[in-house]
Amino acid sequence: MSEATSPGKIILFGEHAVVYGRPAIAVPVAEVQARAVLHPAGSGADFRIIAPDLSQDYELTEAKPDDPLATIVQTTLQYLGQPAPPAATLHISSTIPLGRGLGSGAAISTAIVRAMAQFLYRSLAPAEVSSLVYEVEKLYHGTPSGIDNTVVAFEQPVYFVKGRPIQRMRVKHPLTLVIGDTGIVAPTHTVVGDLRRRWQVEPERYEGYFDEVGVIVNQARVAIEEGRLGLMAIGELMNENQELLESLGVSSPELDGLIQAARQAGALGAKLSGAGWGGNMIALAEPQVAVAVAQALTQAGAVKVITTEVARST
Ligand code: PMV
Repeated sequence: MSEATSPGKIILFGEHAVVYGRPAIAVPVAEVQARAVLHPAGSGADFRIIAPDLSQDYELTEAKPDDPLATIVQTTLQYLGQPAPPAATLHISSTIPLGRGLGSGAAISTAIVRAMAQFLYRSLAPAEVSSLVYEVEKLYHGTPSGIDNTVVAFEQPVYFVKGRPIQRMRVKHPLTLVIGDTGIVAPTHTVVGDLRRRWQVEPERYEGYFDEVGVIVNQARVAIEEGRLGLMAIGELMNENQELLESLGVSSPELDGLIQAARQAGALGAKLSGAGWGGNMIALAEPQVAVAVAQALTQAGAVKVITTEVARST
């Protein structure tokens, strides 16, 4: 038997612009997890995939060619030089809400890669796990930047630029984040595709927004790593990033409502996180204000609220 988990994630700064080569910052969220468990089956048995949360139960040989779960299993087997799947049953479960910007797809794939490697007595470096998961992210997202698989496979705060090796980030002071879920599912590839069409019509306008986002991300990196300007500066940068996300056309009335509620309850800053049009927003709060922010989000209609801390790191 082998068992592996993976955390969820949130993007702190820079979503969307990261698809166009600008930097972004993301952190893992350990309060939600994907889990993959592999049990050996009798010799000659087929490899079976059971994912009750996704209402899936099938044999690998019956999977459709673009099935994301089967694809990550097959990609991993190939990478590990395993010609045939082992006789085993793979159980997948997750507490990460699907399609809400918390990285559920990347986390499920990561847990599967880790469990498969363990089952076959192999060990994979985080960079190897990340690039295997990226292959499947392409199926989910179309043109993924690669930030989700990176932060989830490395399980630490990252400063990410598409196509470049990961840059780990120090965190000078812990960050308390309150995450509010609009309950609205907005597929990432739809939002990213819609923005791409608008970018194609008015490239200069959108490149200008992406540049502005890039400047904010770099300022946020300094603020998080050096802590000299305090939490207020990080909150202010989140608000500025949100304004640009609104200009990019990826916010929504529901997200705006939750963001407003968090700010009124004393959050230092708030923005949407992930693709937008639905999914989650995040608010930065002083620890003693986090409960009030969480309550305000629930009152404003959030279907789920998670409070997480980005720990201090050196
Ligand atoms: O919805 P999520 O968390 O998968 O976020 C997508 C982030 C984007 O920047 C919009 C897309 C990407 O591939 O980075």
